[in-house]
Amino acid sequence: MYLVTGASGHLGQATINHLLTTYKIPANKIIAVSRDASKLADLKAKGVHVRDGNFDDEAHLTKAFAGATRLLLISTSAMEPGQRIKQHVNAVRAAEKAGVGHVVYTSMPNPVGNAVLFAPDHEGTEKALADSKLGGWTVLRNNWYFENLFFSMPQALASGTQYSAAAQGKTAFIARDDLARAAAATLASDKGGKATHTLSGAKEYTIDEIAKLVSAATGKPLNVVHVPVEGLVQGMIGAGLPEGMARMFASFDDATARGSLSGTSADYKAITGAEPQALEPWLKANATALSAPAAH
Ligand SMILES: NC(=O)c1ccc[n+]([C@@H]2O[C@H](COP(=O)([O-])OP(=O)(O)OC[C@H]3O[C@@H](n4cnc5c(N)ncnc54)[C@H](OP(=O)(O)O)[C@@H]3O)[C@@H](O)[C@H]2O)c1
Repeated sequence: MYLVTGASGHLGQATINHLLTTYKIPANKIIAVSRDASKLADLKAKGVHVRDGNFDDEAHLTKAFAGATRLLLISTSAMEPGQRIKQHVNAVRAAEKAGVGHVVYTSMPNPVGNAVLFAPDHEGTEKALADSKLGGWTVLRNNWYFENLFFSMPQALASGTQYSAAAQGKTAFIARDDLARAAAATLASDKGGKATHTLSGAKEYTIDEIAKLVSAATGKPLNVVHVPVEGLVQGMIGAGLPEGMARMFASFDDATARGSLSGTSADYKAITGAEPQALEPWLKANATALSAPAAH
């Protein structure tokens, strides 16, 4: 039985779709877990088992994980530093207690010593897996999604200016659906053991290069203004963002400037046998959505 947590989320939905369609796993061999299983009615209608499971409650999760052989632990969306680690450690303990054979975890690139404020949560979860009694685990260190640009670009294009503290640091963006395919491939394989892979797109880009490509795809001017990290924080606070969120977002740029999100890896192709999608055609195909605020 293959279990996917975060099954109502974008990555969870896409992973289950790849399990069913790309890897031909029968629906009745898949368990989808959400805090609210009623959000999974579409999967239930396809014959997927759906269960409630909350990462804040280890005993509840242990019940939700019963019978799973291979489990995809999708990192939670909690933004408060230190919150995810508690939730993920609950999940690792629940997987041990439920007798899960192999856990696949979605981490981030270079989590050790990374300036991203929630990086210690990923580092701690990787350590919890390494220290666990689980028979096997696979860590997938996912680089930033193409889809993150849906959050930053609409506002930048509206004003024509992108403020950045990323300096000349590069990011090896990858399509979220490619990460879902790699997660599904890892889950559906019968590979045991303990391994860490880094998943990136084929190329890495500075913010100046991204701005040029987005501008070309949308036909709108976009100028990058480079600022120091603290200047970015104060600018976001001035624009009305709570300080905690401003520091979190600015930490992404800080990490980028330090090179923590750079570097391409061949692991995606090794896991899926496919090339990662290229960013340029994706930007063109999503030009309208990049220009207009929307939920992604
Ligand atoms: N690499 C990147 O660029 C990037 C970008 C954004 C996010 N992420 C990370 O990757 C994860 C998946 O991305 P996504 O796009 O699928 O995010 P998403 O659409 O926001 O989904 C997040 C999922 O986390 C689950 N979750 C949150 N708190 C939970 C809890 N206490 N117990 C159980 N489940 C909980 C939610 O499930 P329910 O609400 O159904 O319980 C939801 O399905 C995110 O959660 C985040 O850790 C990575």
